[in-house]
Amino acid sequence: MLRSLVPLAGALIIAACGGETGDTADAAPAVHNEAAAPAAEPSATASSAATAMASSDDDDDDDDDAGAILAALGGDYANADLTNGARQFRRCQSCHTLNEGGRHTVGPNLHGVIGRAAASAEGFNYSPQLTEAGLTWDVETLNAWIENPRALVPGNRMSFVGLREADDRRDVIGYLAVETAE
Ligand code: HEC
Repeated sequence: MLRSLVPLAGALIIAACGGETGDTADAAPAVHNEAAAPAAEPSATASSAATAMASSDDDDDDDDDAGAILAALGGDYANADLTNGARQFRRCQSCHTLNEGGRHTVGPNLHGVIGRAAASAEGFNYSPQLTEAGLTWDVETLNAWIENPRALVPGNRMSFVGLREADDRRDVIGYLAVETAE
């Protein structure tokens, strides 16, 4: 039921922009970020926006749930911007799925990654470096990893330059937590 939160946030941005500015194009992918099949994007956008708008009672619950999940992460995570988190996650999506049971692609599926031992997703062929790093993914280790994976685990196989902005890292970690909560 948390799924409708991000579409709602995207829908609000579209509404706020009046659908006229370039921001709309920017916000739209966040709306259907959850949709796995690119071919389904246009209709998924319309229907999830409609669902988000139609079920305002549920949305209040979702806000509460998301708020509680973010608050539980501690620190500044309560202020995470999930719409920006979804947008940042697009950079990860070329290599990672996030849905439960999603397939491994270039990188492992990231469902439920927070709290999980590093290199423990079944069926993914991790580098020995990450396997032997002995890390557990919490907000601190994830923050360091997303900022600069090579600095945290030299020789690992995630070719990602890193997110420089602390806010972007906070937002994408918040997004991971909310999207993969049971
Ligand atoms: C170019 C492909 C690529 C991109 C882009 C990428 N990753 Fe990865 N990621 C990988 C690979 C490959 C691994 C496995 C690394 C290894 O085994 O050394 C990995 C591993 C991880 C892990 C550890 C998972 C585990 O099970 O231990 C996390 C967490 C992660 N990535 C998060 C992210 C996030 C968040 C982003 C976006 C900000 C991102 N990745 C972008 C390829 C990528």
